[in-house]
Amino acid sequence: MIGFSKKIVSVFFLTVLQFGFSQEKTPRLQKKGNRTQLIVNNKPFIIRGGELGNSSATSMESMEPIWSKVADMNLNTVLTPVYWELIEPQEGKFDFSLVDDLILRARKENLKLVFLWFGSWKNSMSSHAPAWVKLNQKNYPRVKDDKNRSHEILTPLSENNLEADLKAFQKLMSHVKDFDQKEQTVIMVQVENEIGMLPTARDYCVLANEAFNKPVPDEFFKYMQKNKEKLVPEFLEIWKKNGFKTSGNWEQIFGKGLHTDEIFMAWYFAKFTNKIAKAGKDAYALPLFVNAALNAPEKKPGEYPSAGPLPHLMDIWKAAGTSIDLLSPDFYNPLFKHWNDLFTRQGDPLFIPEHRFDESAPFKGLYAIGHYEAIGFSPFSIESVADAKKEPLGKIYNLVKQLSPVIEANKGQEKIDGVLLDKINQLQIIKLGNFEFTFKHDYTLNWSDGAKADVWPISSAMIIEIAPDEFYIAGSGIVVTFKPLKSMEINAGILKTDQGIFENDVWKTIRHFNGDQTHQGRHLRISVGDYEIQKIKLYTYE
Ligand code: DGJ
Repeated sequence: MIGFSKKIVSVFFLTVLQFGFSQEKTPRLQKKGNRTQLIVNNKPFIIRGGELGNSSATSMESMEPIWSKVADMNLNTVLTPVYWELIEPQEGKFDFSLVDDLILRARKENLKLVFLWFGSWKNSMSSHAPAWVKLNQKNYPRVKDDKNRSHEILTPLSENNLEADLKAFQKLMSHVKDFDQKEQTVIMVQVENEIGMLPTARDYCVLANEAFNKPVPDEFFKYMQKNKEKLVPEFLEIWKKNGFKTSGNWEQIFGKGLHTDEIFMAWYFAKFTNKIAKAGKDAYALPLFVNAALNAPEKKPGEYPSAGPLPHLMDIWKAAGTSIDLLSPDFYNPLFKHWNDLFTRQGDPLFIPEHRFDESAPFKGLYAIGHYEAIGFSPFSIESVADAKKEPLGKIYNLVKQLSPVIEANKGQEKIDGVLLDKINQLQIIKLGNFEFTFKHDYTLNWSDGAKADVWPISSAMIIEIAPDEFYIAGSGIVVTFKPLKSMEINAGILKTDQGIFENDVWKTIRHFNGDQTHQGRHLRISVGDYEIQKIKLYTYE
């Protein structure tokens, strides 16, 4: 008995020595109800992000004017590239000075970082491969198109290419662990950037041609059979059309055509990237994600960056490994709901690492955090802002910042939702708790001159049920009315509406809203141009 307790005590002390009592667990993704939280420094964390333009973080001098803009817009996280060519200028010789400087400076600014690994691929190309890779085509073979022309694109079929990238990425992750594990400034890492095959749907280099005629790997079939019931319909349809075969080469299984070229390439890109991700995770287990350049429906594979982690290929990306935690959309097209619905249809968490920094971005960010309970949002080229202090993104992020603890407390419980409105989509209905909420664009009231304009500014809001009949509604440019869900015979009224702020996570009422502000008890309103949180208590009467 004494021997046994001694053993426990020594294991205990060994553990304390090894990890330290104060040691925090690595940033991680954690399921809560039907959603996922990002946990940083042992607390849930919503990324109020912004991605830097590709070349801005290549020196600390060029970063200097950017930090204050970031603070003025209430960001808590900067997404910044790490170039392979800069960290490994010579094979096996690493230089992490810029990485370290960025981490140190971010800490000073009280910011977190998401590193974007510009390794083998950056928007289809291999522009960020170091010179020793670019100059040695024999060792590091390129993609060839259908005319046998080489491109500045490393083929994912080459073991040498894989090994070179994998070693560098693993070194980076292991360095970040040594340098940053205690502080957790770096909270996630993107592996490669917008992988996609251009200008042909498939690679025709010797290695690719050989693989194309070989049997589809068993590993892929195993995934397809195991997940047959939940495969995305686009992919299921292709497999079905060819008779759900479970052995044969790529064209025998999926038929002849560009769609098969794309599936084949997706498998090899996903395999390659998963292996890199696994090596990186083995060194330091941060959450890892890949981002996708969204395809336009009228374009065929080879005309858009094909084979990336796109919704119609998500099963292939998942079949190829489990080391990538998130497949993320980059938005440079307007169909925000459409693509997010596709990315989340298998229950995956949503993180939006890039959105064009246009006037719709802040509102879509709020909507994503409300409706999809996204773990974060990040407009691209954040430093391009004209006047950071006036930028609506900062105002929306301020709302998110205040509400984050409430959002996280209610996450995954069907208690949060969001709306996104404009002149075309003027109205949205949300059922939450005991009520049906009709959210309309503020201009539907026709109370301001702006309502006469051909185009209305986009508006959005999120709603959180915090107690029976009690809700926070936050956003801009909305007017909300209420009905009880229980029966059409009874009515809903406002008991109390407060506009306020959170100070140190505690709600503080600034104004009690009534009279004109609630249209004498008929609605809750946040005008276009205002950014508010209101707390509302409803009741029913006969
Ligand atoms: C998407 C890429 O992922 C970014 O790095 C950048 O190139 C933007 N496109 C440019 O619009």
